[in-house]
Amino acid sequence: MNTSLFRTRALWLMSALPFLIFLVSAGSLAQNGTPSFISTPLTGNWAVKIPKPDGTFQWAYFNLKQDGEKIAGSIRVTQFYYKIKESTGGPDNFTIVGSMRDGSSDRTVKYEGKLVGDELHMSTRRRPEDKPTELIAKRAPDGEGAMPALLPLPPLHKVTYNGLAKTPPMGWNSWNKFKGAVDDKVVREVADAMVTSGMRDAGYIYVNIDDTWEGARDAQGNITSNKKFPDMKALADYVHSKGLKLGIYSSPGPNTCAGYEGSYGHEEQDARTFASWGIDYLKYDWCGARNLYADEEMPAVYQKMGDALLAAKRPIVYSLCQYGRLDVWKWGPDVGGNLWRTTGDISDRWDSMTRIGFSQNDLAQYASSGHWNDPDMLEVGNGGMTDAEYKTHMSLWAILAAPLLAGNDIRDMSSDTKEILLNREVIAVNQDKGGKQGKRILQSGDQEIWVRELAGNDLAIGLFNRGSASADITVRWADLGVKGKVKKLRDLWEKRDVKVDSADHKFAVSSHGVVFLRLAR
Ligand code: GLA
Repeated sequence: MNTSLFRTRALWLMSALPFLIFLVSAGSLAQNGTPSFISTPLTGNWAVKIPKPDGTFQWAYFNLKQDGEKIAGSIRVTQFYYKIKESTGGPDNFTIVGSMRDGSSDRTVKYEGKLVGDELHMSTRRRPEDKPTELIAKRAPDGEGAMPALLPLPPLHKVTYNGLAKTPPMGWNSWNKFKGAVDDKVVREVADAMVTSGMRDAGYIYVNIDDTWEGARDAQGNITSNKKFPDMKALADYVHSKGLKLGIYSSPGPNTCAGYEGSYGHEEQDARTFASWGIDYLKYDWCGARNLYADEEMPAVYQKMGDALLAAKRPIVYSLCQYGRLDVWKWGPDVGGNLWRTTGDISDRWDSMTRIGFSQNDLAQYASSGHWNDPDMLEVGNGGMTDAEYKTHMSLWAILAAPLLAGNDIRDMSSDTKEILLNREVIAVNQDKGGKQGKRILQSGDQEIWVRELAGNDLAIGLFNRGSASADITVRWADLGVKGKVKKLRDLWEKRDVKVDSADHKFAVSSHGVVFLRLAR
């Protein structure tokens, strides 16, 4: 080869080298700016959009930073924000474990997956025994799905009482039975059945739509309902035309518990929307706010919506749902709450119902007219307990002055379920004008006696047998403040007067059953 030509070419190549290196590396920059020649193909923001049958979507985001064998970053699944705390493997086969603090416990998720082309193919299971859910995440712009900016909270002040719920609210709520399957048709049919079954006339007035009604926000930021609820105002008109009231549900977080749109940053606007639709009751559920705020900030967060509801100038019962954290009974009334959940979710099982119901004793002092402890909605008629157990449930909720929100399918009730929900004398105990919550006065093994003082010096007395065999419970009238003879004693489930002519009386109580009495002193 001609040496001068060789020298010229070599010189050209040398001078062009830095530029060529730049071209090669720029061409292979990963989306977040990390050059791929150090092989971090998992690094980036990945999103998966999961369609739901009601026309809405759920999003999950994986904000990953791969550093050799390690994957760091965060995972957001609707309202849950996890930090990745463990990882193994790489693009061909990785596992990431995310963890988040939830009140006093930790919540974790685990994904296994691999990079296929420019997609992340992953699978996850809620519990080890579940079938895996498969998902395919695609690259998303940086910042999409990130935790929203924290908005300032108002200083605390006392929200004026709205004058509602003078006795514990009564009605129906969609969640226990229908979960995500509630829609306009169900609500209308339930409203019809509330009338025909006699529920309305017995006092069950509120028809409450729980989570999963929410659609996207429009261009002005107004919340809309999803396609299960084509016209919320028309639905409210219909429910009102039946002499009933309509309730709805939201969260102070960006998302609700079921991952739908929440009221975060739109509190006043949503309160106005609810009022314009004709909503009469709001259940406001913490779930989606837990990653944004500390529990200590709950009062300010709930006060914000309390103020917003008052400003919307429609009487709307305000139901706080934050599972009894931060001793909500101590500040619930101050933020405008008419009722507040005192525990986690109930389920249609004896152990769940009794764990909740029999643990309410220390909260009695916090209930008063307009302000109620809420041990969660009724499960009566949902099939997971016996009728004796449902009578225990109903009697206990009556003694506890708890909201009576039926959680079953009102369109299809057995006569036994009707008899339990529609027992007027039991309802009268629940709705007693005195507004006092009852207390346990005796516990002996599996047997408990609970007493509620009623207006006019009457007592409601629940003799409960939590044991697995029937048992006798003896009541001494003097212990209940009876001087001399008992004036009148009524068995509220047997619907008959009980004759008493001695200083005490022995009652046989079936396993998991109750004898529920009203005593005139
Ligand atoms: C939480 C509440 C339930 C119900 C669901 C809806 O779990 O405690 O009562 O509202 O959210 O997602």
